[in-house]
Amino acid sequence: MATYRRFIFICNGSDCKKAGCKKLQAEVKDLIKSDDHKGKFKIVKTKCMDFCKSAPSVVINNELIKKAGIEVIEKKL
Ligand code: FES
Repeated sequence: MATYRRFIFICNGSDCKKAGCKKLQAEVKDLIKSDDHKGKFKIVKTKCMDFCKSAPSVVINNELIKKAGIEVIEKKL
């Protein structure tokens, strides 16, 4: 296992849940399990990040991804 892992923060607040964060989280989980990314990332579920209008909100490398989709996240990894 790698000693250094990058974190992917996924909001699990109510607005993001309505916007499909659970599905997104499952997709991200599959993505980081793929051979290219295995062991390099860790998903962290957060409470509301106060960007509800841009739900679902995801933070990778200190960068907020608004209305996050799996394609955008894949590019940021
Ligand atoms: S519910 Fe996700 S940012 Fe508020």
